[in-house]
Amino acid sequence: MSLLKEPDLGTPAKPGPATVSVEVDGLPVTVPEGTSVMRAAALSGIDIPKLCATDSLEAFGSCRLCLVEIDGRRGTPASCTTPVAEGMKVSTQTPKLEKLRQGVMELYISDHPLDCLTCSANGDCELQDMSGAVGLRQVRYGYEGANHLDEKTDSSNPYFDFEASKCIACSRCVRACGEVQGTFALTIEGRGFGSKVSAGGTDFMSSECVSCGACVQACPTATLQEKSVVQLGMPSRSVITTCAYCGVGCSFKAELRGAELVRMVPYKDGGANEGHSCVKGRFAFGYATHPDRVLTPMIREKITDEWRPVDWDTVISFTANKLREIQARYGVGAIGGITSSRTTNEEVYVVQKMIRAAFGNNNVDTCARVCHSPTGYGLKQTFGTSAGTQDFRSVAKSDVIMVIGANPTDGHPVFASRMKRRLREGAKLIVIDPRRIDLVRSPHVQAQHHLQLAPGTNVAVVNAMAHVVLTEGLVDRSFVDERCEDFDGWAEFIARPENSPEAVEELTGVPAEEVRAAARLFATGGNGAIYYGLGVTEHSQGSTMVMGMANLAMATGNIGREGVGINPLRGQNNVQGSCDMGSFPHELPGYRHVSDDVVRGVFENMWGSTLMAEPGLRIPNMFDAAIEGSFRALYVQGEDIAQSDPNIKHVHAALKALELVVVQDLFLNETAKFAHVFLPGTSFLEKDGTFTNAERRINRVRPVMPPKTGKHEWQIVAEIAQAMGYPMRYDDPSEIMDEIAALTPTFAGVSFEKLDKLGSVQWPCNENAPEGTPIMHMDGFVRGKGRFVQTPFVPTRERSTRKYPLILTTGRILSQYNVGAQTRRTGNVAWHSEDVLEIHPHDAEVRGINDGDEVTLASRVGATSLRAVLADRMPVGVVYTTFHHPVTGANVVTTENSDWATNCPEYKVTAVQVGLKNSTAPAQAGQVETMLPAMVD
Ligand code: SF4
Ligand code: SF4
Ligand code: SF4
Ligand code: FES
Repeated sequence: MSLLKEPDLGTPAKPGPATVSVEVDGLPVTVPEGTSVMRAAALSGIDIPKLCATDSLEAFGSCRLCLVEIDGRRGTPASCTTPVAEGMKVSTQTPKLEKLRQGVMELYISDHPLDCLTCSANGDCELQDMSGAVGLRQVRYGYEGANHLDEKTDSSNPYFDFEASKCIACSRCVRACGEVQGTFALTIEGRGFGSKVSAGGTDFMSSECVSCGACVQACPTATLQEKSVVQLGMPSRSVITTCAYCGVGCSFKAELRGAELVRMVPYKDGGANEGHSCVKGRFAFGYATHPDRVLTPMIREKITDEWRPVDWDTVISFTANKLREIQARYGVGAIGGITSSRTTNEEVYVVQKMIRAAFGNNNVDTCARVCHSPTGYGLKQTFGTSAGTQDFRSVAKSDVIMVIGANPTDGHPVFASRMKRRLREGAKLIVIDPRRIDLVRSPHVQAQHHLQLAPGTNVAVVNAMAHVVLTEGLVDRSFVDERCEDFDGWAEFIARPENSPEAVEELTGVPAEEVRAAARLFATGGNGAIYYGLGVTEHSQGSTMVMGMANLAMATGNIGREGVGINPLRGQNNVQGSCDMGSFPHELPGYRHVSDDVVRGVFENMWGSTLMAEPGLRIPNMFDAAIEGSFRALYVQGEDIAQSDPNIKHVHAALKALELVVVQDLFLNETAKFAHVFLPGTSFLEKDGTFTNAERRINRVRPVMPPKTGKHEWQIVAEIAQAMGYPMRYDDPSEIMDEIAALTPTFAGVSFEKLDKLGSVQWPCNENAPEGTPIMHMDGFVRGKGRFVQTPFVPTRERSTRKYPLILTTGRILSQYNVGAQTRRTGNVAWHSEDVLEIHPHDAEVRGINDGDEVTLASRVGATSLRAVLADRMPVGVVYTTFHHPVTGANVVTTENSDWATNCPEYKVTAVQVGLKNSTAPAQAGQVETMLPAMVD
C-alpha cells in the first residue's frame, strides 16, 4: 500500500456511550462525555489546526493554534482542552480565528530554520502542514531577533537525532515520554521564549532515555527524527506487520522507500501496543539484512568437512534421502525435530505435520520446553487451557497488580508501559522477585510490597499468601462455590501450619508480616491480576508454582473478568503459537492428546496418514537417545539448542552422536557447527503468516520483501515431506491457516481474510466467539469448573554449600534479546556490550571484589568469567547475570535440574562461588569455554 497516514483526532478517545450532541460548523456529531471539541470536530470530518495536541496524549493547550468560537461563550477557547457540552455550536473557521492562528504561526516560523526543501521531514512535518492550513503568507517579525537557530544537534542516540534548532517547544515529546512510555526522561527547561527540551540536563544517550521512540513519534517537526530517514529519505509505502522480538507482539508499519526498509513505526490500531514500541521492535531490525546471513542452502557429509553450497532441489533430495535411509536402518522413531517460537504459526504447523505424517512418529518438541512448558501444564490442570487469561488492555482495570518472577520494563517493555500507566493512576503493586527490579521504584511508581524471596522458594511464598487468604476469612466463597471444585481438600492442605508465613519465613527470607500484608492487599484491594515470567517457570517446581498462582486467583475470585487473571509474559514472539500448533510430543494442534482416538482420526482423515497414538520424545529424551544410539537424525527449526539448552556438554555430545543434523536458520549458529544440512531461513521481514502473542492474539506477519533465500520456510518443509513420499502442498500460507482452522476448534474462525479485516483476533475464535475472546473463563472455566490443586513446597535439590555459597539467578536487559543473535547484529550494541555479574556489596567485600573487577563464576558443573558490578538491588547471597553474550556463557554453570512435570530446566537457581579472576578462585580454568547461555524464551 502507499504510505499509510493514520488519522490523528487530536485528543484521546473518552470511554462510554456517545451521548453528547454538538454542531461543528453546522455539522451534527454525537460523542461520549468528556470528549474535546477538537476530537468531536475531527469525528465530524473537520480538522482544526493544531500543534501541541495529538490523540495519543492528553491535551496540554500550549500552542494556541486550535482556537475556536462557541456560540454564547466569550473569547476563543482552545478546542483541545475544551470538552463538549450538550447543544454546543462551534465555529472553527472565522476571520477572527484565521487572524489569530496566523499570528501564532508567524511567531513559530520566525524562530524556525527555513530549510523546508532540504529538511528530512519535508512532506511529513506538521509545522509545514499547519502553515498551509492557517494560510500563512508572511512573517512580519523577520528572523533577526532572539532565536534558537544555533542550537546544537544531539546525535548521541544510535537511532535518532535531536535537532534542537527546529524545536517549537510543544512538549509533545516530554509528555510522550511520561504518559506513554512512563520513563520521564525529558523536561522543558526554562520559561517563555527561553524554554527548551532537555534530556535531564545531558544528552539522550547519557540520560534515562530507553530509546522507545515515543518522543520521535510524537514530534510534529524534524527535531526528533530517525537517522534512517535522514540518511535514506522519507518512505513512500507501508506494510503492516508484527514485531519479531518478544511475546507482546507489537504491530508496526514497516515503511519503505522503494525496496528499502526505512523505519518501523508502531501502529496505532495494533491491539497489543496501540501505537507504542520499544527499542527492539522500533529500531533493531538491521539483523535481517546483516551480511552474516546465509542465503544459500549448504550440505556436507561430515561436520569436519567444509560446507558445500547447493541449489534447493539438491538440498531437499539430500535431506529427504538421508532421513529415509536412517529410518530404514534404525526404525521409524530414529528421527525427529524441534520447532521454533521465532517462526510463524504456519511454519511451525508444517514442521510438526511433517514429523507426524511424513516421519511417522511424534518426536516433535519445541523450545518452549525450556521456558513456558510449566505454564501450559499448570494452567491446563487448573483452568483447562494452556494460555493466559486476559488481554493486555485488561491491566487498565486492575486495582492490585502482582508481578512474579518477571521484569517487564526490560523483558516486555510495551506492556510495562501500560502497567505503569495504571500504577500511576493509583493501582497497587506487589513484586515477588529476589532482585529489586526497576518496577519496585521508578518515576511515579512505588511497589507497596516487594517480597524479596530466596531463589527457589516461590511455591512456599504463594502457599503462604493463600494460607493467609484462607485462615483470615478472605476467600471469595461465592466464586469458589459456584465456579470451582476440589476446594475443601485444598483448603485443608493450605491451612496447615507448615504453610503459614511464619513457618516459611526463614526459608524464604521474606518477613511473615510482609507476606500477610501482601496477601490481604491482593484479596481485598479490588481487581487483582497476576503477571509472571520465567522466574516462575524455570524452577524444579515451575508447574507447581503456576498451579499455586491459579489457586490464589481462584480463592480470591480473580478470574473471568477485566482487570484480573493469570498472565504469563511470554518471551519470544510466538511461544504461545508454537505451543498451540501441536509442537509437543504428546499433543496435536489445540493441545489435544495424541492418544485420543477421535481427535487422531480427524487428523488422519485430513492428512491422509496413520498417526502414532503414543507420545514421542521430549528434547532431553532425544539427547539421551542420541547418545545411547537409538535416535539418529534431528531437524532443528530456528533454534540454537547448542547454545540455549542446559547441560551444554551433554547437548554437544548428543549432537555429535547424530548421523544427520538439519538446521534451518538465518545464521550459521552454534548448532550449525554440528549440522550436515543448512537450510537458510527467512527473517520476519520476508515471512508471510501469523504470530500469536502472550494474550492469545493472532497477528498477521506480512512480507515486506520477498524471501532473500528464494523460498519461504513452509515451502522448504513441504518439499522435504514430498521428497520423503508424503504429499504436502500449499500454494499460499493462508491455505495452511485454513487447514489449522479446520482441525483446531479454538482456531475454527481464524482466516487470513478475517485477520486482514479485523486486524487481529484472540483465540478461541470460533462459532461461539467469531471475533475472538479477549478475556477467558468469563462464564465458566474451559474445563468446566476451576480446579484447586494441592501444591506442597518441595525445596530444590540445588542448595548453597560451603563450596558454592551463593545462588545465581538470571534475567535479561531491555536492549538485548535472548542469546543476542539478532540484537548483537544491530545498533543495540551501543548498550550492554557485555554481560556482567551483579553482586551485593557485602558479598563483594568479603571476597575482595571491587566494582568492575573481572571475576570467576563457578558452579559444580562449570565455570566462566565476567565483570562484577556492585548492586544493592541484589539481596546478600544472590548474584545475577544476563545471558545475551556468547563469551559469558551462563549455561556453562547451569545444572541438569528441571521441573518435575515438564522438564523445563531450573535455570533460575544455581549454587555458585564467585572470586577474583586469577586469584585462588574456585574456577576450573579448563572449563571456561566460549559457550552460550540458556533461557531461550
Ligand atoms: S525515546 Fe522514549 S524514553 Fe527516550 S526520551 Fe523519547 S520517549 Fe523518552
Ligand atoms: S522536540 Fe519536537 S515534540 Fe519535543 S518540544 Fe520540540 S518540537 Fe515539540
Ligand atoms: S515490546 Fe516486544 S513486541 Fe513490542 S516492540 Fe518491544 S520487543 Fe517488539
Ligand atoms: S493544539 Fe490546542 S493548544 Fe495546541
